[in-house]
Amino acid sequence: MSSIQLHKEHLQQFITSEELSNISKETLAAKETLISCTGKGNDFLGWIDLPKTLSPEIVSSIKKDVEVLTPKSKLFVVVGIGGSYLGARAVIEALQSEFASMEKSDHPYVIYAGHTLSEDYYHQLLQMLDSHDYAVAVISKSGTTTEPAVAFRIIKAHLEHKYGKANAAERIIAITDARRGALHDIAQQEGYQTYVIPDNVGGRFSVLTPVGLLPIAMAGYDIDKLLKGACDMRDICINNNTLEDNPALMYAAIRNLLYRKGRKVEILENFVPNLKYISEWWKQLYGESEGKEGKGILPHSLSFTTDLHSMGQYVQEGERLMFETVLSVAQPHNRVEIPMDAQNLDGINYLVGKSLTEINHNAELGTILAHVDGGVPVLRIEVPTVDEYVLGQLIYFFEFACGVSGYMLGVNPFDQPGVEAYKKNMFRLLGKPGYEK
Ligand code: PA5
Repeated sequence: MSSIQLHKEHLQQFITSEELSNISKETLAAKETLISCTGKGNDFLGWIDLPKTLSPEIVSSIKKDVEVLTPKSKLFVVVGIGGSYLGARAVIEALQSEFASMEKSDHPYVIYAGHTLSEDYYHQLLQMLDSHDYAVAVISKSGTTTEPAVAFRIIKAHLEHKYGKANAAERIIAITDARRGALHDIAQQEGYQTYVIPDNVGGRFSVLTPVGLLPIAMAGYDIDKLLKGACDMRDICINNNTLEDNPALMYAAIRNLLYRKGRKVEILENFVPNLKYISEWWKQLYGESEGKEGKGILPHSLSFTTDLHSMGQYVQEGERLMFETVLSVAQPHNRVEIPMDAQNLDGINYLVGKSLTEINHNAELGTILAHVDGGVPVLRIEVPTVDEYVLGQLIYFFEFACGVSGYMLGVNPFDQPGVEAYKKNMFRLLGKPGYEK
């Protein structure tokens, strides 16, 4: 099966082959630190072997849950924030039609909660839940995060009112720590179906655990293929020790070289809008892993060609502080051609018979060439097509590269101490006991 490929032909005027060869030793050392589990945060490396070690019983149990809940649920509410929801949303939105709706779907339509505190959002959500059958996955590794806790309290009350307490409990699945946290205690007491997030897998690295797999399977996608893609990419990442043969090492090396040359912002770009949430997941992965101790590349994202008409000017001619990583999809699933129009009033008959992908690929190449001319280094990740197998590869590729890149930067890529700061203020402002001063 074809694999994602890294293309660096548009970097030639920004990085020399000598510079790449000089950084390769350091990149390999970072990889060794990662896979020998000898670096900072080494108690959170369970994700490295997950695609190989995830128990088949867990996958079977997820499929059973899908079988049981699908006939009785039009909607599936995923309650979680950060790593407890972005991976699932990234995969589901990459695979589902832009025009998907619960009316058309054979599977429950997945919607999200716990990622916002907007009152209007929950008011609208509850209105939807009033008129449709639904089930819920509540996901929190710590089991104590305020946003999902608040959302779950509201939704649990609604569910119990709608179906009665015992029936509601059969529509709730909790995914949390094996031993600790309020969510763990609620799930035990209420007798919910429960999955464990392994101790050694952090939130943003948890998409290949039930955190991601359950919602993705519930939406009707093939989690075996997703895991197979991740497994195959794991083999590539673990077994290859040259930058040329190991795309994750090459990616980590290039981004650190560019960072050291003053490129402090990386823009992940797509030319197909269904990859938007892959970028959101990637931003969390790299932002939380690297943004610490006053260091780190700022991850940003754009969806082209849409954003060429809003941010294109800045990328072309603004401050030269960024580099771009283009997610370039080779093959679409469908063909749409430009039809003939005898009058040609719009002047686009020169495109007749061309597919939209042919036009889009030329837009992509034209953009890359323009930005390189404008002084922006561009790296291209070629994605053969958007399916479960390739998304599994992409997820593992970005995770592995993130671990290597974080060690090259000299930080602990597996903690997120800065996320606590706003919580303390919020708790004090809201009068949470113990946070008065
Ligand atoms: O990567 C992380 O660990 C975080 O972003 C968490 O995923 C996020 O804060 C949600 O935490 P929890 O799953 O404990 O509710």
